[in-house]
Amino acid sequence: MRAVDIIIKKRDKGELTREEIRFFVNGIATGRVPDYQAAAWAMAVLLNGMTPRETTDLTLAIAHSGEVLDMSDVVKIAVDKHSTGGVGDKTSLVVLPAVAACGLPVGKMSGRGLGFSGGTLDKMEAIPGYRVDLTTEEFEKQLKKIGLVLCGQSKDLAPADGKLYALRDVTGTVQSIPLIASSVMSKKIAGGAHAVVLDVKVGNGAFMQNLKDAHELADLMVKIGELAGRKVVALISDMNQPLGCAVGNSLEVREAIETLQGGGPADFREHCLHVAAHMLVLGEVTDSLAKARKLVEKSIAKGSALAKFRQLVKAQGGDLSYVVNPNKFPRAPFVEVVKAPRSGYLERVHARSVGEASVALGAGRAKKGDPLDHSVGFVIHHKVGDKIKEGQALFTVYANDKKKLAAAVKTVLAAHEFDDFPVPPLPLFYE
Ligand code: URA
Repeated sequence: MRAVDIIIKKRDKGELTREEIRFFVNGIATGRVPDYQAAAWAMAVLLNGMTPRETTDLTLAIAHSGEVLDMSDVVKIAVDKHSTGGVGDKTSLVVLPAVAACGLPVGKMSGRGLGFSGGTLDKMEAIPGYRVDLTTEEFEKQLKKIGLVLCGQSKDLAPADGKLYALRDVTGTVQSIPLIASSVMSKKIAGGAHAVVLDVKVGNGAFMQNLKDAHELADLMVKIGELAGRKVVALISDMNQPLGCAVGNSLEVREAIETLQGGGPADFREHCLHVAAHMLVLGEVTDSLAKARKLVEKSIAKGSALAKFRQLVKAQGGDLSYVVNPNKFPRAPFVEVVKAPRSGYLERVHARSVGEASVALGAGRAKKGDPLDHSVGFVIHHKVGDKIKEGQALFTVYANDKKKLAAAVKTVLAAHEFDDFPVPPLPLFYE
């Protein structure tokens, strides 16, 4: 078998066999298939799609490109969550410790930034010293010891996803239902999750732009999970405006800490409570969403969720003093508060524009392996539907360069649109 023939077959809209998919994925994992062939193949998949059978085979091949953990000895029910990616989505940083504080252990493999969407690993690495590359042994040991792990794919776990993910980020091959579904579900299967809550984002700041595509992605991931013997719940949530206020790595970590302290933006807090409640029900900690939600609220109110987050940071080598005193996070040298150019009701805060502007500031990558500046980004002060007066602070930009600052101000100002008449707020969840 030759990689080039598999690329050509997909380019010509052919259906790949299980053997061809396994051969190609193993080649990516071992380095036998070079980056340029993997990228060409990803583009062919993006353009020509895959059947559900091909996507399932792809998922299992990626999951089995490394070890597949069996968590049965470590936890009774291993529950995981995954978001398909958005702008300002720092949900895992709050939900995971809250759920773990309610007695449900969580071991999660996350990803880095992908295109305009931020990545949990990049956010956690804003905390100096935090290690995302755990070995399988470390993963299991930490899960047993503190009931919480938040790391990336490793040489051992779904390594083909790690490589493909980094390539897709910089080759315009993210927005593909089979590639997203297999990327997400392979990590969940390899990580040994028995049950998964999927947060499928829809809107201009998501990879799925409309409800039809979001449904298709959600259904496919649920089916793949079921075929692999996992319980899966998929939520479809809005991503037409940034989630919460902060966009950018250390700014988002700070907002997550604020939320764990009982504050934080109302929309973000509500989103976290809902996702966490679903995890607790899937993990059979309690039998209703209402009871689960109360437990999560309590874990935040009494500080046990924040204490869990501290335990996590410490266990993975992060400098705890940044969590204790978030003012320690380095501040970007150029900060500008941008005022509302007119009065009115906020009709739109275009999430994708904000995400792209954040990448341009240095919070994301333009090419594989680019270093990030964790200090840059935005705080968006208002939500769609808010009544705003001319001259009121609209958003704050944190930049490391004057030219980039000016460009960011222009883009994000244009991302805000006003109406003279009241505008209803956007829903948090569609389904
Ligand atoms: N999250 C992932 O892990 N993979 C994707 O492709 C998109 C979101």
